[in-house]
Amino acid sequence: MAEGQATGRGAMAPGTEYTIEALASEERTFPPPPGFAAQAVANDRGIYARAEADLEGFWAEEAARLDWFTPWDRVLDWNPPDARWFDGGELNVSYNCLDRHVAAGRGDKVAFYWEGEPGDQRVTTYAQLLDDVGRCANALKALGVRRGDRVAIYMPMIPEMAVAMLACARIGAPHTVVFGGFSAEALRDRINDAEAKLVVTADGGYRRGKPSGLKAPVDAALADGACPSVEKVLVVRRTGQDVTMADGRDVWWHDLVPGQDAACEPERMASEDLLYLLYTSGTTAKPKGIVHTTAGYLVGVSATHRYVFDIKDDDVYWCAADLGWVTGHSYILYGPLANGSTGVMYEGTPDHPAPNRWWDIVERYKVSVLYTAPTAIRAHMKWGPQHAAKHDLSSLRLLGSVGEPINPEAWIWYHRHIGGERCPIVDTWWQTETGAIMISPLPGLTTTKPGSATVPFPGVDADVVDADGHSVPKGQGGYLVLRKPWPSMLRGIYGDPERFRETYWSRYPGLYFPGDGAKRDEDGYFWLMGRVDDVMNVSGHRLSTTEIESALVSHDAVAEAAVVGVADPLTGEAPAAFVILKLGAEPSPGFGEHLRQHVAAKIGPIAKPKTVMFTPDLPKTRSGKIMRRLLRDIAAGRALGDTTTLADATVVEQIRDASAAGKDEE
Ligand code: WTA
Repeated sequence: MAEGQATGRGAMAPGTEYTIEALASEERTFPPPPGFAAQAVANDRGIYARAEADLEGFWAEEAARLDWFTPWDRVLDWNPPDARWFDGGELNVSYNCLDRHVAAGRGDKVAFYWEGEPGDQRVTTYAQLLDDVGRCANALKALGVRRGDRVAIYMPMIPEMAVAMLACARIGAPHTVVFGGFSAEALRDRINDAEAKLVVTADGGYRRGKPSGLKAPVDAALADGACPSVEKVLVVRRTGQDVTMADGRDVWWHDLVPGQDAACEPERMASEDLLYLLYTSGTTAKPKGIVHTTAGYLVGVSATHRYVFDIKDDDVYWCAADLGWVTGHSYILYGPLANGSTGVMYEGTPDHPAPNRWWDIVERYKVSVLYTAPTAIRAHMKWGPQHAAKHDLSSLRLLGSVGEPINPEAWIWYHRHIGGERCPIVDTWWQTETGAIMISPLPGLTTTKPGSATVPFPGVDADVVDADGHSVPKGQGGYLVLRKPWPSMLRGIYGDPERFRETYWSRYPGLYFPGDGAKRDEDGYFWLMGRVDDVMNVSGHRLSTTEIESALVSHDAVAEAAVVGVADPLTGEAPAAFVILKLGAEPSPGFGEHLRQHVAAKIGPIAKPKTVMFTPDLPKTRSGKIMRRLLRDIAAGRALGDTTTLADATVVEQIRDASAAGKDEE
């Protein structure tokens, strides 16, 4: 297997527990329970044939469920890699998420049950949310934000975050949400790449029982004129902690927003107008601003939300992600609200104050559909099933998984201890770039296999190809590709059309290359095998090895660094760093910890290497490429419990041998 194919779970060094062979031998199958199939939104297999026979007709039918100010002229204009969907149409995303439900007499329906980590609760109906969004939209205008201006959002998971995103959509000001766990530096880079005019933030949020600061990193990001595009900062008071407010720049939300008029005319946006940017890690140090536009995105997320989660009017749907990631954008906010469904939003950590927090929420709000990530399921497994067993989870009828391949053990645990062996599980494969779910069971139709994301969504043409782009026979592994365009696909990388072509469309001209390895079994089911590039998946979050390496070498004492992803029982993968220090710097456990903190400050705590190993050398090929596979083997051979390992004789030997051989790995 090529060097690149050895990153994710399925592709670890031979002999580790999650090899793809082990996965594909998982033979239990779970047909949809008959009662579930009978009532499902998608209960007719014909949906697949229909979409295949007439892709444009299929998506046009889905688009017709939305409200349009002006209908589209053309469903699709496809000049690979440039797609235009629903050209000529005009609509507004916030109108579709709010006004039309209120106009249809559903204003009293709950849009969100929100719960803060300390236990505070807020219930927001569609009518209230529409008013809140109108006020916020007028406040944004009062702060000088105009259609087309970018707005950065750096907030805790509080209702105001959803309000701010929808207010941006209402006035046609694209948002770029930066996850609250990112550092001041990461925030600054994203603000500057997007040239955001306004930052919406809060004094802080609650995490693990303590208030964490958000305003201070914003101040640090903006210090010394580092973000020249930013004119104003709008600040929500959430924790009450002390913050400094810059005169003329910073404005309290409570001073400005509540006094605004609730009525705000939604902008008539063209189908292909920019809805938002969301930065994600690629294979270089610079994150990519993924571009999503208005109509196709909303069509994609609303249709997939409805079919995959089998959404009915009386469902209480909980996507336990953070709004800061694409899962939150598509399946907490836009998809569910476009469908007029009732959601749960929870601010904090799953084990605060105790590991039963989630199950208490499920019981109290009678959650019927739960969508989460394998890393969270594995954490619950570790805490034990007794926490869920204390609660009445009988309201649950469907479970979902996203973010990384789910190992069959976690699948079965989820099925048994959370789903009471009666709930289908939808394992959904997709990415920031795809905008919406691409490979997933339809719960009333698809027989599931633990560990497989099963089959492409109707209209999605996925394939597994070899290095030359030929489809591999069933039962073999290769690279995942998508052959046909889909409405919610990324339209580009902000400001960098060349990188867009290069990253996704150059490996196989005309085919979309997502960067994942996959295998298709004899039944045509897809088994995702992890990334085939230098992107790691840590707790379902994408991290670039290059970005972490850059953060390490930005430290004065570091001469060179290499980072690899290694298997971790809880987080899926974990970053392991190999560091060569400059002359005069002394390797020590304390210094390893210091470097970990340095990475946290540069990127964010999620990027902290789990281990730092000091070495005198790095193994390189003759062409000078770091031999990451060897480093992965070395890192995998070590207990990951200790955070710093001083190079010992065997490591040094292995590295020296490899360097001396200098053989190319590919
Ligand atoms: C991985 C998150 C296997 C994959 C929505 C993809 C998955 C990357 C799955 C995107 C899944 C996501 N099975 N792998 N069900 N879901 N991935 O952009 O490697 O944060 O390319 O989007 O996560 O991560 P992103």
